[in-house]
Amino acid sequence: MHRTPSLMPSLLMVAPSHYEVSYVINPWMQPTAWGNDPETHRHEAEAASAALHAALITAGAQVSLLPGVPGLPDMVFPANAAVVLNRRALVARFACQERRGEEAHFLAAFEALRLRGLLDVVEQYPAGVFQEGAGDAIWDDGRQLFWAGYGQRTQRASLAITEAFFAVPLVPLELVSPRFYHLDTCFLSLSGGEVLYYPPAFSDEGRASIEAVAGRDNVILAHDEDAAGFCVNAVNIGRHIVMARPPQRLRDELTERGYTVTSVDLDPFILSGGGAYCMTLRLDRQSEATPLEAAAE
Ligand code: ARG
Repeated sequence: MHRTPSLMPSLLMVAPSHYEVSYVINPWMQPTAWGNDPETHRHEAEAASAALHAALITAGAQVSLLPGVPGLPDMVFPANAAVVLNRRALVARFACQERRGEEAHFLAAFEALRLRGLLDVVEQYPAGVFQEGAGDAIWDDGRQLFWAGYGQRTQRASLAITEAFFAVPLVPLELVSPRFYHLDTCFLSLSGGEVLYYPPAFSDEGRASIEAVAGRDNVILAHDEDAAGFCVNAVNIGRHIVMARPPQRLRDELTERGYTVTSVDLDPFILSGGGAYCMTLRLDRQSEATPLEAAAE
């Protein structure tokens, strides 16, 4: 297969027109706070989504915007919709019944991207195997592998399916806290090889794997305030990092390592347990060569 590397990082977002916090499927969700003043929250959510969109464009990305769907408020978190690599999309199976209605809409959206020539293959995890997309499968471009979360929403059984479908290595990481129910809430892989992660979210084995694979010098430990502020749930594009309002300490550390940090107020989405990373889905990631292709060459 011949690859045409895309000129620009390409991200998917979903318009927040039908966003709200109306149910509780993670400990951060606050339907009562939302319901006290839905109009104000709705306006703030529109502004926050627009600010994120603008920051991503400034960071050098192109952003495709999908419309939202009434009754499916969490569609604004497309990181959970699929794992995408090498123009292949493997569409999620949601663990929570509240989000299962999203699957058909995302399948249709990825199929439309395929017909437009942006994807080659669209499939879905087998029925009964829960996996919540790129929120639990974070591509590490430098190491050419997926960091793969499981144990909260995503089932361990899905990992072998991810590995086989994409034919790339994967580092399994068990998530042990309901507050950090997706890997992207507590783990960020950066272009310079560093990983920012929040240790209490992981099993001992998971922490050991992160330290072993990343190497001590590449590890940046997130503090409680970073995790609670959804700063770890950030988008990294080249040397740019777009994140929910970081504490000065974290911003300084990332700046020292050569990154430009853009702070965005994402409070209306943190009310649903999400931040910048999960409000996007990266579509253009390519591995250097899949093992199958390498063998054929
Ligand atoms: N309310 C959504 C849920 O609980 C938030 C999802 C945030 N996504 C993420 N990848 N962290 O499913």
